[in-house]
Amino acid sequence: MSDYVVEMKSIVKNFGTVQAVKNGNFTLKKGEIHSLIGENGAGKSTMMKMLYGMYGFDAGEVKVKGETLTHITPKLAIEKGVGMVHQEFMLVNELTVLENIILGFEPQKGMTIDFDAARANVQKYIDQYGMDIQMHKRINQISVGEAQRVEIIKILTRGADIIILDEPTAVLTPQESRRLFEILGNLRRDGKSVVFISHKLDEVMEISDRISVMRQGNYVGTVDKKATSPKELAKMMIGREVFLNIERKATEVGDVVLKVENLWTSGEKEISKIRGVDLEVRAGEIVGVAGIDGNGQSEFIEAITGLRKVEKGRIILDGKDITNFSPKKVRKSGLAHVPEDRNIRGLNRSMSIRDNLVAVQIDEAPFSKGILLNDKAIMEYANDLSEKFDIRPRKPEMITQSLSGGNAQKIVVAREVAIGGKLLVASQPTRGVDIGAIESIRSILEKVKEQGLGVLLVSADLEELLSLSDRIVVMYEGRISGRMDAAEANEDNLGLLMMGGRNASKGGEAS
Ligand SMILES: Nc1ncnc2c1ncn2[C@@H]1O[C@H](COP(=O)(O)OP(=O)(O)OP(=O)(O)O)[C@@H](O)[C@H]1O
Ligand SMILES: [Mg+2]
Repeated sequence: MSDYVVEMKSIVKNFGTVQAVKNGNFTLKKGEIHSLIGENGAGKSTMMKMLYGMYGFDAGEVKVKGETLTHITPKLAIEKGVGMVHQEFMLVNELTVLENIILGFEPQKGMTIDFDAARANVQKYIDQYGMDIQMHKRINQISVGEAQRVEIIKILTRGADIIILDEPTAVLTPQESRRLFEILGNLRRDGKSVVFISHKLDEVMEISDRISVMRQGNYVGTVDKKATSPKELAKMMIGREVFLNIERKATEVGDVVLKVENLWTSGEKEISKIRGVDLEVRAGEIVGVAGIDGNGQSEFIEAITGLRKVEKGRIILDGKDITNFSPKKVRKSGLAHVPEDRNIRGLNRSMSIRDNLVAVQIDEAPFSKGILLNDKAIMEYANDLSEKFDIRPRKPEMITQSLSGGNAQKIVVAREVAIGGKLLVASQPTRGVDIGAIESIRSILEKVKEQGLGVLLVSADLEELLSLSDRIVVMYEGRISGRMDAAEANEDNLGLLMMGGRNASKGGEAS
């Protein structure tokens, strides 16, 4: 038998007229961590979904542990030891962690489910791989990082030794990513094989044994981690060099466009209640909000954008009090918003690219004339934005459901940036997008600022905050634990404030 536990050769997969994979190759060795990288829409998820039996393949050959499989169903994949954690989690919110893990595979004792046996079995994996999860909690009570560990344990209990993780770190904080990497290391130590899909080259360089690259449905090549560099990988992915360090122009800072005064709101959790936040954003500046997920950043943005009730305090946008306005009225007052979760608030997944692009302006000229819609204007607008923001494929009629993750994100950014206004609130704007798109989204934010908008940028990515922001504030337990000019900020002093430490330089006073 060969060294490989997976061999995929000359794979072809079409969805109607879309050629998702034209020539896919991938091999996985036993006991290795193999990263699969490539631009948005390159075909990474599709390749792995074929291995997991979610999609059939139109041509090519797939071998798992030396055995050729012509027709893979998820059931067969699981039998062969293949497990996949998807880009979008598939856990049932209303059930507990334990119930989710055993769903469909419940151990029986007579006529009833043997929860004691199930618990003991799950505990075994928790101990073996150092995964901390709380079995009795419901899914909607746990963090994203924990939900991901639940997904991993779930496939391990089904006997998986080939483990596919589709962009697992896109939703994690740096600290949670660290923990995931420890777990992946433990899995490798136990002889399991891991496929790791990611857009973050530094992570890929850290965790992988080998790295494979895809571009526009084609296999580009496989390299040993030890023999490559982020620069080479970026070039393999997009065929040119990438510049992530946006040139920052000194812009004239103008009037205050957003003024938040002593803001208080409820929180999803106790620590994420907003407790007396003051903040100003001026025209022509980018203010970054740093913090470990769950310290109130989401609640803060929800309050500003009209999605969460303000209990005390005021929000002034361009001189006008918008406290507790509806989201629609906030928008009309000049606030554009790239929300943190594109699938819940950002996009209507059952609508086309075009309809999503015009969604927030559909009742305005030139898109509406009385009760009639101006199809020509809508189409022109959609085509124009698709071009400018490089939304792929260039098929404005396509339903967004089938778009790759990063392209879905580009639609939201395009729509919001295009409406202009006074303030752009961008939450995790580059989460899950490829480096080519990160480069373009970052330079778009820079341009928006140059045009005189204020930008409030929330990002879990410190490198992003440092490279874009003029000023940075750190949120900790619903308060601002520190503020500084970007010039004095670095990963160390921000990291300290994110953990609740004191801002040594300014004591968190200046604004
Ligand atoms: N179910 C589907 N129906 C139609 N087209 C699809 C479907 N799934 C994927 N595609 C298309 O196939 C191509 C490859 O998509 P895929 O999701 O595999 O990309 P990806 O490399 O995972 O990208 P990302 O990094 O953005 O997640 C894209 O053009 C996408 O629009
Ligand atoms: Mg994908």
